[in-house]
Amino acid sequence: MNFTGSVKSKLPGVGTTIFSVMSALANEQKAINLAQGFPDFNCSPKLIELVNHYMKMGMNQYSPMPGIMGLREKIAEKTQALYGAVYKPETEITVVPGGTHAIYAAVSAVVRDGDEVVVLEPCYDSYVPAIELNGGRAVFYELKYPDYHIDWNEVKKLINFKTRMIMINTPHNPTGSVMGESDMLQLQKILDNTDVVVLSDEVYEHIIFDNLQHQSVARFPKLAERSFIVSSFGKTFHTTGWKLGYVLAPENLSKEFRKVHQFMAFCANTPIQYAIADYLNDTDTYLQLNQFYEDKRNYFQKLVKGSNFKLLPCKGSYFQMLNYAKITQERDTDFAVRLTKEHKVASIPTSVFYHKNTDNNVLRFCFAKGNETMEKAAEKLMRL
Ligand SMILES: Cc1ncc(COP(=O)(O)O)c(C=O)c1O
Repeated sequence: MNFTGSVKSKLPGVGTTIFSVMSALANEQKAINLAQGFPDFNCSPKLIELVNHYMKMGMNQYSPMPGIMGLREKIAEKTQALYGAVYKPETEITVVPGGTHAIYAAVSAVVRDGDEVVVLEPCYDSYVPAIELNGGRAVFYELKYPDYHIDWNEVKKLINFKTRMIMINTPHNPTGSVMGESDMLQLQKILDNTDVVVLSDEVYEHIIFDNLQHQSVARFPKLAERSFIVSSFGKTFHTTGWKLGYVLAPENLSKEFRKVHQFMAFCANTPIQYAIADYLNDTDTYLQLNQFYEDKRNYFQKLVKGSNFKLLPCKGSYFQMLNYAKITQERDTDFAVRLTKEHKVASIPTSVFYHKNTDNNVLRFCFAKGNETMEKAAEKLMRL
């Protein structure tokens, strides 16, 4: 069947994502899949029981558009306890079907034709399409390799009267870098006296290591007043397939956000909202996540230490970047394919996270995996 009319693509540069390509290749090659950015272990049985419980109770219809009040209240408590910021459940917290939805709706709420949005690269792959579908133009800044830090004086030069938004992400996918207090203060300073809105992607807020403190934008009132903060229960509770997250933003921004969200999805899935509201009563469910993933990072690092791959710093998220320049000078996309086919380990070449495909000979490996999976992968990587 074929539509005979003509449809001019609104995203001509977008094809099948590298994530699908590498996963399909991993399956075909029966390779160990460290490409997929999600856990290969299950979530807590208690959480599953809670979802079942609320389904059986009949909580299976639409929830209120901004989310059930019980969950919004729990999010407010958590945000205040962790970051000292007060967000009103009624008007400033919106529960959404996942972080990607939140990013799209936030961009859509504020970006118009001709607006510029500053994007720090490498970046999560939904950012630029969200900007372009809304008529905006992404203006790129490259994080400084190899620790992926930010020179804010350079970022400042990208901001002008057309800049509508800047998108930041900490802890960061794909690099595992995190922003410190001084980054936030510098960002706050360069945005002072501008109309620029911040989209702060904090979906890995509970996956940060070495006793570092997550520097949520919520901690900085002058930034928070111009920010959408995006979080995802998918990352926090090992439930990426449930697609549940939330957005914190001051009332005027939340109002515009909700106008878009209500016509994209209207609401998120109801029984899971009830279940997570209950589950959040135990703060250990998210406060112990740092240690859980820090142990995984340490284990993966220990396993590949002494190999010809060079470990880049990983301070948060569940991704470890490995530089392979000592092994080969191939392009990262070529090497990632060869590594999957010949050595049976799948990863993600990091050039795909840059609009210019910047290639630093680095691959991204996801360590949200069982120990045995990591051991098998490391054994193969050690042979190179
Ligand atoms: C940086 C970043 N932002 C947003 C998301 C999307 O989150 P969700 O799965 O809740 O849509 C992801 C998922 O991989 C991510 O890595």
